[in-house]
Amino acid sequence: MGKILVTGGLGFIGSHTVVELQEKGHDVLIIDDLSNSRPEVLDGIAAITGVYPEFFKLDLKDKTAVFEFMENQQIDGVIHFAASKAVGESVEKPLLYYENNIAALIYLLQAMLANKVSSFIFSSSCTVYGQADELPITENAPVKSAESPYGNTKQIGEEILQDLTKVEDLNAIALRYFNPIGAHESAHIGELPLGIPQNLIPYVTQTAAGIREQLSVFGDDYPTPDGTAIRDYIHVVDLAKAHISAMERLLSGKNRSRMEFFNVGTGKGSSVLEVIRAFEEVSGKSLNYKIVGRREGDITAAYADTTLANKELGWKAGLDLRDALRSAWKWQEKQSRETDN
Ligand code: UD1
Repeated sequence: MGKILVTGGLGFIGSHTVVELQEKGHDVLIIDDLSNSRPEVLDGIAAITGVYPEFFKLDLKDKTAVFEFMENQQIDGVIHFAASKAVGESVEKPLLYYENNIAALIYLLQAMLANKVSSFIFSSSCTVYGQADELPITENAPVKSAESPYGNTKQIGEEILQDLTKVEDLNAIALRYFNPIGAHESAHIGELPLGIPQNLIPYVTQTAAGIREQLSVFGDDYPTPDGTAIRDYIHVVDLAKAHISAMERLLSGKNRSRMEFFNVGTGKGSSVLEVIRAFEEVSGKSLNYKIVGRREGDITAAYADTTLANKELGWKAGLDLRDALRSAWKWQEKQSRETDN
């Protein structure tokens, strides 16, 4: 494998993917606009792999800069993480999301085509399935109308790639992530949510660390065994590895069509209360939580059928919920120590 461009390579999933790429000996170029990440993440990556990846601060919305960058680099493939991802914010600021997630995607693809870079991995999401009619969810489940502008940008992104791969020399894989959680076991890199976390696991770890007073469990009246909603929580390191498998598939020409879609999850669903219990077990902390009403837009249950990724990508999640929660807690404890000092 040659040189891989990782956009958003200083973000949560991006940084873990850079580590896995470098651990396999690949050259990595990162571009990131630092809008939701920090340059210190480079130190974390280097602490794990012994190598500082090349880094360029670049805003993908700056079309001229993107073209200039691509012309001056020898790139074999692109893994595209750079995007905004806060569901609530996307409802408040739809144009910001369409610009950040769609305009930027278009410029990046244009610059790739102009420079004959033809392998592309797209960060998609299980959000495209909405509340699926059947569980576990296969890639053939219909894409449902999006609940938010954020979700819509993932659907539109997939559609753009589908249209483009029909007519251009471009091979693309959309990875539909279930719920990415956890951190690298070294605790050198992890999730860095800005402000009050919207996602469950950072809220759990911050509550256990005393940064938040109490976790609200959104709804216990779902039609599930314990009444709380079910998700498929995938360790970020496993998720990162799926990107390497996908990129290798494209670079070795093993893809079956120019556009492919794969679910990336563990295949196992866990309820919010199961997550809380598992977290208490691995951390030895008791969590202050209370049941409140449902959060608008939330679905009852989603977990992946990963047969296709297992078979075609030769990839399978190797870590489980407890491993992921243990690593998330280790990362949180390290963050807390650093803030105290
Ligand atoms: C959310 C987004 C999804 C996005 C994903 C990225 C929504 C509606 N969906 O997924 O589009 O792709 O993040 O990671 O925002 N929960 C609590 N208390 C909390 C936080 C969450 O009970 O403080 C519950 C939620 O109701 C849900 C589960 O925990 O049942 C997981 O929530 P979250 O981590 O926010 O992920 P999703 O909502 O599945």
